Amino acid sequence: MNNSPRLRIAIQKSGRLSEKSFDLLRGCGLEFDWRRNQLLCACTNFPLDLMLVRDDDIAEFVTDGVCELGIVGFNMLEETLLARGDNQRQEVHILERLGFGTCRLAIAVPEEKHFVDINSLANCSIATSYPASLQYFLNQNHVEAEVIHISGSVEIAPALQIADAICDLVSTGSTLRSNGLREVQTILESQSVLIQTNKKFSPEKNEVISRLEERLKGVIRAAKTKYIMMNAPLEALEEIKSIMPGLEDPSVIPLGSDGKKIAIHAVAREPDFWSTMEKLRAVGASSILVVPIEKIFG
Ligand code: PRP
Ligand code: ZN
Repeated sequence: MNNSPRLRIAIQKSGRLSEKSFDLLRGCGLEFDWRRNQLLCACTNFPLDLMLVRDDDIAEFVTDGVCELGIVGFNMLEETLLARGDNQRQEVHILERLGFGTCRLAIAVPEEKHFVDINSLANCSIATSYPASLQYFLNQNHVEAEVIHISGSVEIAPALQIADAICDLVSTGSTLRSNGLREVQTILESQSVLIQTNKKFSPEKNEVISRLEERLKGVIRAAKTKYIMMNAPLEALEEIKSIMPGLEDPSVIPLGSDGKKIAIHAVAREPDFWSTMEKLRAVGASSILVVPIEKIFG
């Protein structure tokens, strides 16, 4: 085991994806002894080293094969690939969509600015930290506008009269609102993704990647699923199954001697359990328990 090759995974050092990236890896049972400002950090119970870098660099490191793996926003991956040219797409691929860090790359204009559709942006200047993605979008839509590349605080560009509009990441939208800007056009939907270099490496390394991937899948699947327990009248069973199409092979246990009441236990994929719960109550379900699942395998 000591000779097994070590993998490198690039993750964001500090920013919107850092904590969730760490949580995900810890959820896979990996242990690290990370100290602030440390750039390389060894996992103590798995052949993996973390490289803690700026999010802007992650896709480049993985595309170049400096790291085998990386956790990065899809927006950043796209920007890197568009900026480096189409032939780069064969250098890297997405292993998993991780389901956190959801946001969108969008164009926003000052509240009072007239905007009908993207053609309203013709001859405008648009400030962004995503020049390649924005330029690609403008080209696709045959809109001629000036792309102004600034690396941070893009949202103040209109107030400083540096640009007429901006193109930036939007998550809750509060940054736009507090800067008097209105979102008018999404150009890319994003979430964090696990990427892998396409550079060739040894079967031993591939084997380690597969092990890690299996664990990640288990944790990601579990995050989207709940274990549900409830009591219900037997005659409501079919209705309950139709209320919860995500119910996988429920166990049905008769309660009492007359068999009219049952307990249902099942794993369910339910993104919004509150409204489901109300419907279940309405068909007679009671004592509904919703339990988080830590991991799912097999
Ligand atoms: C992004 C973006 C906005 C903010 C939007 O920055 O540049 O400033 O998030 O989020 P909101 O809609 O929830 O207000 P990020 O935190 O990713 O930092 P960075 O641009 O410095 O990488
Ligand atoms: Zn950044």
